[in-house]
Amino acid sequence: MTFTDPATTGTFADSYRAARIPASGPIDTRPISMTPADRAMFDPIWRAVLPETRARSNDIHLPISLAYAERLCVAHPEADAEVVLVATLLHDTGWGRVDESRIISEGFAGDWRKARIRYEHEHQGCEIAREVLPPLGYSNDFIERVTAIIDGHDTRPTAYSLEDALMRDADRLWRFDQVGIALASSWFGTDPTSYVDRLRSEIVPELISQAGYEMAIADLERSAELLRTEVLRPEPIREDAQ
Ligand SMILES: [Fe+2]
Ligand SMILES: [Fe+2]
Repeated sequence: MTFTDPATTGTFADSYRAARIPASGPIDTRPISMTPADRAMFDPIWRAVLPETRARSNDIHLPISLAYAERLCVAHPEADAEVVLVATLLHDTGWGRVDESRIISEGFAGDWRKARIRYEHEHQGCEIAREVLPPLGYSNDFIERVTAIIDGHDTRPTAYSLEDALMRDADRLWRFDQVGIALASSWFGTDPTSYVDRLRSEIVPELISQAGYEMAIADLERSAELLRTEVLRPEPIREDAQ
């Protein structure tokens, strides 16, 4: 990471700027479909946010991201796994409460990370966490830890804690699977080969944990091979043809 934020100097973010956070547990780089998220304890949360899973393909993005989050927690047994997993499950539910017509027009265009609608979906996601978690028995302290991660997960440049970092990596890792490439290349109006190039150049450097990095590279190689991205590479536009 090359970003330097003076406000966070001396904090958790400094610890991973120089080098990715090393894993203390095993790293599983097999295809994510081999280890689906398998925690029946979260079924009540899924049911509580069912309407919000219908927005912006959250019913694909969130379960796959949750499966990656579980693997990251195995690689980091020192993390509070329940905070990571609940934050990952809920982090994008706020898309279900923003104007759907603006999701593609604003959420994926220009400087999309700073689009107003990005802040709105983070805020709404925190509201949803505060609504659905108390009736399921989660404490206020736990909910605060979850919302601290959801708030700013797209717009804040750095992670505040290991749990925050693992949720961010899970949120990126799903894109390296073929399903993520298919959905995200369509969202960004590009072809799979160009999107794979973008994953390699822009998203890989953003990964905070070594486990996340190794999973991403393994997925990227598999996806590029399966999708034949090198042979299906778009022809460069010749200047003399314009
Ligand atoms: Fe998000
Ligand atoms: Fe997300």
